[in-house]
Amino acid sequence: MPTGHCFMALSLDGFVARPDHALDWLTKQPTGPEDHGYDAFIAGMDGLVMGSGSFRTALGFPDWPYAKPVVVLSRTLTPSDIPAALAAKVRISSQTPQALMAELDAMGWTRAYVDGGRVIHSLLRAGLVQDLTLTLIPILIGQGLRMFGPLTRDIDLTLTQATPFPSGLVQLRYLVRP
Ligand SMILES: NC(=O)c1ccc[n+]([C@@H]2O[C@H](COP(=O)([O-])OP(=O)(O)OC[C@H]3O[C@@H](n4cnc5c(N)ncnc54)[C@H](OP(=O)(O)O)[C@@H]3O)[C@@H](O)[C@H]2O)c1
Repeated sequence: MPTGHCFMALSLDGFVARPDHALDWLTKQPTGPEDHGYDAFIAGMDGLVMGSGSFRTALGFPDWPYAKPVVVLSRTLTPSDIPAALAAKVRISSQTPQALMAELDAMGWTRAYVDGGRVIHSLLRAGLVQDLTLTLIPILIGQGLRMFGPLTRDIDLTLTQATPFPSGLVQLRYLVRP
């Protein structure tokens, strides 16, 4: 199976987006030339697995942000929801996370960037995420969408790195213990 890897920014109160999916709070505080490691992270991935919520947000960006292949997990979107310009880069899958990862394995993927909110939670619950890189943004937004939620068992994490940046961002890397 490919391993799943997350690279997410969270408000200090634990949200990944506002209730309407807005991400304006992510860039409110200037970070200057700081390198938070995103380019190095994505360079090590075969592609992305994301939820339809995140896909819709990405469609609203001025430019499509991903050079690597993207699989959108959705039970409601159809191929007709993919703009023609992205047809070679994006596909929809209604499979379970386990079945999708098995399919990606057969396609030769070894490392998948798991992106989104609810989809990350699903893959975490299913034991398909190997590590989390979480960047805490020094802001409280009060309400919004989360990437963590109810569990049927505890998930133990090992902190492997903690990096404070001059801007006030703090990046935490965790290995998910099997
Ligand atoms: N802060 C950050 O670093 C960061 C990074 C990435 C994204 N984001 C933002 O975070 C927000 C997350 O959106 P979201 O909460 O809607 O989560 P999401 O994971 O992006 O999308 C969730 C949707 O995916 C579909 N889905 C299909 N199979 C699923 C499964 N097994 N488990 C869960 N969902 C499944 C469901 O919709 P249907 O089946 O109905 O299609 C579900 O509502 C977005 O606004 C995104 O822009 C933030």
